[in-house]
Amino acid sequence: KSVVHRLWKGSVSARMLSPRLQKAMKDYVSANKHRVAYRGHRDTQLSPKDLLCELKKQVRIRTLDGSEPPFSRLGWNRLVPPRTLDRLYGSRFRTCAVVTSAGAILNSSLGKEIDSHEAVLRFNSAPTEGYEKDVGSKTTIRIINSQILANPKHQFNTSSLYKHVTLVAWDPAPYAVNLWKWYKSPDYDLFTPYVEHRKKNSSQPFYILHPKFIWQLWDLIQRNTHENIQPNPPSSGFIGILLMMVLCEKVHVYEYIPSERHTDLCHYHEQYYDAACTLGAYHPLLYEKMLVQRINRGSEYNLRRKGRVTLPGTPRRIC
Ligand code: C5P
Repeated sequence: KSVVHRLWKGSVSARMLSPRLQKAMKDYVSANKHRVAYRGHRDTQLSPKDLLCELKKQVRIRTLDGSEPPFSRLGWNRLVPPRTLDRLYGSRFRTCAVVTSAGAILNSSLGKEIDSHEAVLRFNSAPTEGYEKDVGSKTTIRIINSQILANPKHQFNTSSLYKHVTLVAWDPAPYAVNLWKWYKSPDYDLFTPYVEHRKKNSSQPFYILHPKFIWQLWDLIQRNTHENIQPNPPSSGFIGILLMMVLCEKVHVYEYIPSERHTDLCHYHEQYYDAACTLGAYHPLLYEKMLVQRINRGSEYNLRRKGRVTLPGTPRRIC
């Protein structure tokens, strides 16, 4: 049985990946670029409900608010949007769609269904123009990694992809988060373009995720996974899913756990083939997907047919 089939059923292991991906994983583990040292415990047998409660307990959306150095000294408390991301929209959205960029969404005809949600989250440079039938056309929030801000090829300042939406950027700091060090040497410089953009477009909500939030999510995945996961930050997809679970009452995620359309085509908008995009090499993607599968409340039929997962918002009261 294929890895994707195992994902649907909820039992995967890195041993099911191709030798090439296993080798790539091992190389990332030995490189340990972000100097991850996990000291927490593991509890890999939680029921879906308890897992959801864990999530609620562990996940606090945090963005840079200018209250800590070096950002406090740089006057960021006046630079960041006046309202925090979790308060930005007043009340919760009733329904939200998270649209991953996977090639498998091509020929899905999911566009109308996706657009029917109150809010839609997209990632990085994923376009809607020309792909409306499959991915829809509405975008409420866009999560972007630091490469989008730093690499001129993405034309961050001029492209319409990054206008009229809420922007949420992130960059992996070392695991033992030191904001000074991170500020001096991020993976890609997101700080300079952020400051510039905030000064010119102060009315557009634009946040940088706190690196502690990113690593909190990583800890959550490792705590709930038997195998040792890659010591690298979770994918934008996982970050986005958890973010929307806080902002929405109900979340539909599309083509994160691949449907029967699964393909090695990395992105629906690019002619580039690599199974690592779907199953992970750098990011602990396989384990993220396993975790999301465990809290899926949708049917296996919708998983196979639409690549659709249904998640509740992180509960306010129950836990
Ligand atoms: O590649 P990029 O990070 O821009 O894609 C957005 C997110 O969509 C990824 O972080 C990942 O979670 C998800 N994705 C996926 N399978 C793919 C491509 C993307 O699950 N083939």
